[in-house]
Amino acid sequence: MISPATNESILEAARLLKSGGLVAFPTETVYGLGANALDARAVSQIFRTKDRPAFDPLIVHIPDFESLTIVSSDVSERVQRLTQAFWPGPLTIILPKAVCIPDLVTSGLPDVAVRMPAHPVALELIRSAGLPIAAPSANKFGKLSPTTAKHVQKQLPDLPLILDGGPCEVGLESTVVRIEKDGFRILRHGAITREMLLNHLEESKAYQTVDPLPAASPGLMKSHYSPEKRLYIVGDHALPEDKTQAAYIGFGSLEGQSGYKLYRQLSPSGDLAEAAVNLFQVLHELEEAELEYIVAEPVPETGLGLAVMDRLRKAAFRFHSQAENSSHLSDSSLK
Ligand code: TXA
Ligand code: MG
Repeated sequence: MISPATNESILEAARLLKSGGLVAFPTETVYGLGANALDARAVSQIFRTKDRPAFDPLIVHIPDFESLTIVSSDVSERVQRLTQAFWPGPLTIILPKAVCIPDLVTSGLPDVAVRMPAHPVALELIRSAGLPIAAPSANKFGKLSPTTAKHVQKQLPDLPLILDGGPCEVGLESTVVRIEKDGFRILRHGAITREMLLNHLEESKAYQTVDPLPAASPGLMKSHYSPEKRLYIVGDHALPEDKTQAAYIGFGSLEGQSGYKLYRQLSPSGDLAEAAVNLFQVLHELEEAELEYIVAEPVPETGLGLAVMDRLRKAAFRFHSQAENSSHLSDSSLK
């Protein structure tokens, strides 16, 4: 059930979390499906509700800097520098896990993913619950991430409580980063870009980005965030001839486009942050429209554009042959 986020509904949600239940709640990135991160039984409900495979670990959400030492056994000075710069905000950091974090949360990995979200409802909820909260995006596994309470309800209609805090400001999941001795690896692109991270770690000259290994995070899976309709990306895939039952998602000017049934814009002015906010919203809308397929124009692969193209390519992946996919995916998914 959707409830507007008020003091009362947030307290009710906190009670549910404390008693081992699940609550969907807004964050600045996407809506999350939360459970007590210290309670393996509660966390197992997340996997069941999402149909999420147990090998895909969860992000633990904390309300303040002090809580970091509860969930992680080793917080280095470099990590502290990043948290001071980007928390609360869309940055998830992979850290050695504390013993109190059940193996189910980390899928048996020795590390835990941690973030402090920048949404007043999320922070108040986590604070009221008095617990670290494990929360993946509140969607069925592999499907589109939710950026509104209605998106959550569409995929997870049986949830007892979906706190409605309005549409998400960022619209794409957090950047996931692992700090290593010789550099950092971006395991998932997001609103905190490689350049932003480099700026805050630059005093150490040896400290450079390292390309991630595909096995470094289950989040590097090639197919994810997928809509129910066939999706093509201009330049990546051969487009069907007949456009009359298709939608076109543009970025910047739509000049020169014609013949499609529907047009949507990620950003008329070509703004990447606006495109990030609109991407999942537009895909949710179009997957429900009377259409045969969707065509999306690529956005420039710089800054936040890397995150937008990562989500688009993962969304399109399952609709295309290995040969078509491999011509471009190896670059973008490993950057
Ligand atoms: O913005 C977000 O991060 C949202 C909101 C709700 O906070 N959450 C989110 O969670 O996107 P989820 O579960 O959809 O994505 C978590 C990502 C996955 O790619 C997962 O593989 C990776 O983080 N991850 C989690 N724990 C990890 C770990 N210990 N090591 C490596 N990757 C990890
Ligand atoms: Mg997700």
